[in-house]
Amino acid sequence: MSVIGKDIRATLGTREVLRGIDVEARAGEVTAIIGPNGSGKTTLLRCLTGELACHGTVTLDGEDIHAMPAHALAARRAVLEQATPLAFPFTVAEVVRLGHRAGAEATDPGVPRAALAAVGLQAKAGRFFQELSGGERQRVQLARVLAQVWSPVLDRRSRWLFLDEPVASLDIAHQLEVMHVSRGFADAGGGVVTVMHDLNLTAMGADRVILVSEGRILKSGAPDAVLTDTTLSAAYACGIRVNTAPVMPFILPQAARPVG
Ligand SMILES: Nc1ncnc2c1ncn2[C@@H]1O[C@H](COP(=O)(O)OP(=O)(O)OP(=O)(O)O)[C@@H](O)[C@H]1O
Ligand SMILES: [Mg+2]
Repeated sequence: MSVIGKDIRATLGTREVLRGIDVEARAGEVTAIIGPNGSGKTTLLRCLTGELACHGTVTLDGEDIHAMPAHALAARRAVLEQATPLAFPFTVAEVVRLGHRAGAEATDPGVPRAALAAVGLQAKAGRFFQELSGGERQRVQLARVLAQVWSPVLDRRSRWLFLDEPVASLDIAHQLEVMHVSRGFADAGGGVVTVMHDLNLTAMGADRVILVSEGRILKSGAPDAVLTDTTLSAAYACGIRVNTAPVMPFILPQAARPVG
């Protein structure tokens, strides 16, 4: 089971942001989308989730994602956006229930509590969302999307988590917690597609890496094939050294200078 995008092209305003992208993400794996600011990662993720109309095709386990009714899509995949502003004074529990109600396990009352526990925030269920710190809010939003697709496999079909920079404002322990949650979801048969800026966490937690640069794929494949000195230095236009000792790739930025 997989999400497959073929020849994805997207224009925002007058700008062609995605310029012919072919991708495949498999259930049972964590797929990381990396690349510089403005390279098109969020736009690609939004095309893969079906939120943004694009040229080309996107299929979710063989079904055309743009032809799927909203409720069917909500039962199969949940999306953590890069920023999720909330206009109303919801409590933490209410935010998580928003995801829960949109999913296919809305009759199981234990799911929101379990989702909050997965991100270590069960004690804050009654607090107002707006009164939490930035990192805590991000974890609540992750609990919301988890509550939407709580079982990684339902009716023998994989479900999908699409996450846009889920660890962006988290401390190191909670970054690891999010990677652990993603790994658990994938190991249980679900699919995870996550935009990442932290290349070391990507090396540690991804099965497959898609490196986007200027609206195209510069390289994709296993982490050790994509996370190399030359590829990363070219993509990010600064010197980057990948140290593979002692156990896994470790990405070390060199002086911030353009690579000529
Ligand atoms: N609504 C819009 N209208 C016009 N251009 C847009 C719009 N949204 C994004 N863009 C442009 O599309 C390009 C890709 O944006 P995108 O948000 O996909 O980048 P990104 O790789 O996710 O970057 P970041 O790492 O900063 O989140 C950027 O150059 C951005 O300026
Ligand atoms: Mg983005």
